Amino acid sequence: MIDSVPESDTVSSGEPSPNDAVLCVEDLVVEFPVGRRKLHAVSGVTFQVGEGETLGIVGESGCGKSSTGRAIMQLPRPTSGKVIFEGRDLVAIGQKDLRDVRPRLQMIFQDPISSLNPRQRVSDIVGGPIDNHGLPSGVSVTKASRDDRVATFLETVGLDPASTMSRRPHEFSGGQCQRINIARALILEPRLVICDEPVSALDVSIQAQIINLLEDMKNRYGLSLLFISHDLAVVKNVSDRVAVMYLGKLVEVAGADEIYSRPMHPYTVALLAAVPEPDPDRPPSPEIGLRGDLPSPIDPPSGCRFRTRCPYVQDLCSEQEPPLVQVTPGHRVACHFPMGK
Ligand SMILES: Nc1ncnc2c1ncn2[C@@H]1O[C@H](COP(=O)(O)OP(=O)(O)O)[C@@H](O)[C@H]1O
Ligand code: SF4
Ligand SMILES: [Mg+2]
Repeated sequence: MIDSVPESDTVSSGEPSPNDAVLCVEDLVVEFPVGRRKLHAVSGVTFQVGEGETLGIVGESGCGKSSTGRAIMQLPRPTSGKVIFEGRDLVAIGQKDLRDVRPRLQMIFQDPISSLNPRQRVSDIVGGPIDNHGLPSGVSVTKASRDDRVATFLETVGLDPASTMSRRPHEFSGGQCQRINIARALILEPRLVICDEPVSALDVSIQAQIINLLEDMKNRYGLSLLFISHDLAVVKNVSDRVAVMYLGKLVEVAGADEIYSRPMHPYTVALLAAVPEPDPDRPPSPEIGLRGDLPSPIDPPSGCRFRTRCPYVQDLCSEQEPPLVQVTPGHRVACHFPMGK
């Protein structure tokens, strides 16, 4: 069994305190009805995203990453839990108040082309949020000020306004469509952008360009990002901290360098072992591999949800669920027998 360190040690750990956080997600639960049963997509997830921070969420396909992102957006509303943004619990507020918050909370999706309305011109897609919500400054909108702002944001994301404004999405490549999505997400100057697998559908050669663009935008506009991906190598490069998710639960949360150099949860170790290019800075990890498939979220294993695939499983693991506790400052792990401890 593990000893945890006192919560007060988080001050020096790089973890934002709830007071400094842009977003606080508390005990988030997302369940979907499946016949007479429930599918447990997200089962009590808690984390914060700090001002100007990028938090990566990583895990295998089907582990609940997108359900978490959508539940934060209230699309649809979660089953239970809190999503505190700008001091308000988005789960508890009505549609009208939620509409007021929307400009400052944006999401970018995996499939850049289907995220765009094929019938609209780029000018209407990128200017749409201004048409719906007005300008972030509150100054009244004129056609000239709207079009100027659309042009500025297209330029900022690396597109030529003159040749793009009047064209439609099918005339662009996947990478260009993702630039259009980013311009649309940023035009109202959000505080937090949830990026759900923003490069997974793109050619490898384009992925780095879009990641660099997101980094530039983050620095230019002081954004906070929640960066969701199944690819640990991508997440590691963009994130300040990383949260590893398994079957609807967070199993490990730590600084990006820390989780990469000192993973403590057997699942994180297995994910890292699967990253193809070894990093010379990374100590060799035992090749525990990942046996078997993700169990069904309709009937998750008792105790530790990873126990059916964990090479280090013991009796306790099926009897008691390991809580996510701080093992070293800023490093949280949900395992009865964390590695390297
Ligand atoms: N609308 C839905 N109805 C029923 N099940 C869903 C729905 N959306 C997601 N799921 C299920 O929830 C689980 C988590 O899905 P998802 O959040 O998309 O995972 P990820 O993004 O990590 O791949 C999966 O088993 C998925 O099939
Ligand atoms: S709690 Fe047990 S089964 Fe779960 S990861 Fe730790 S050792 Fe493995
Ligand atoms: Mg997903």
